[in-house]
Amino acid sequence: MAVVLAAAGCGAVGRVTQGDPAHGKELFLASTPKGSCAACHTLADAKSQGTIGPNLDDAFSSSKEQGFSEQTMADIVRGQIAYPEPPMPANIYRGQDARDVALYVAKCAGNPSCGVTAETSKPAPTAPTAPTTTAAGGSTTKPAGPDGKAVFAKAGCGGCHTLKAAGSSGNVGPNLDQLKPAEDTVEHQVEVGGGAMPAFKGQLSAAEIKAVAAFVADNAGK
Ligand code: HEC
Ligand code: HEC
Repeated sequence: MAVVLAAAGCGAVGRVTQGDPAHGKELFLASTPKGSCAACHTLADAKSQGTIGPNLDDAFSSSKEQGFSEQTMADIVRGQIAYPEPPMPANIYRGQDARDVALYVAKCAGNPSCGVTAETSKPAPTAPTAPTTTAAGGSTTKPAGPDGKAVFAKAGCGGCHTLKAAGSSGNVGPNLDQLKPAEDTVEHQVEVGGGAMPAFKGQLSAAEIKAVAAFVADNAGK
């Protein structure tokens, strides 16, 4: 898909003069009440596989071949964040956050060896607690099962679904509070996907899928 260059640098949102691509990567992956870039877009460097929006590696590799500068590409992405077409929500990020994401995409689209590592200074609020086990005897931390709410956030379910208990308002897929699906319906849907929804088998562990299914079934409509 060709990037529409006319959108670049029109000035309404200002030029992307500086930013922090590591913070941008973190934001690209994060889920927000308005959705998650990663849930809708494939970008190899971010290991995201969303298919609702265009593949960003493909969208920008031809621009790179044609010699567009990183600056120009960042301005295009910044414009896109402010003025997208549905179903991409407008202004998922604003201000410096939006500039950081734009710089990250400009640097890393079509270039998975761009070397940008997401900031880890503060633990991502959505990261599930990895089970920790200690082989040696003595103090072993009992592995906690995955937290369904955290899985819901990490997997970007909220970018597409409204669920009050998760604070999400996505509207690409059905409103889960209204649908009130049974646990095994959720489990099956998350495993295999269907319609415009991606399958999560392989991305989420069986335990995470069970946890998110229980979380949705227990909280939908509440
Ligand atoms: C709900 C799904 C969804 C979310 C969330 C989303 N996008 Fe999009 N995006 C789309 C769709 C669909 C298009 C194509 C329509 C358009 O061009 O406006 C698109 C287009 C784009 C384009 C233009 C690509 C091209 O080929 O011209 C860029 C760049 C982009 N998105 C970046 C982002 C970034 C960065 C984020 C996070 C801040 C994001 N998107 C969040 C669905 C989404
Ligand atoms: C990129 C958007 C997107 C994401 C991300 C997404 N879904 Fe969906 N989901 C949809 C769409 C679209 C449908 C409707 C599919 C259809 O009509 O067949 C759907 C359907 C569903 C259904 C209804 C199934 C049924 O049989 O009625 C459930 C439950 C569900 N999703 C849960 C989830 C959960 C949990 C997650 C996160 C692990 C998730 N979804 C992630 C878009 C998404």
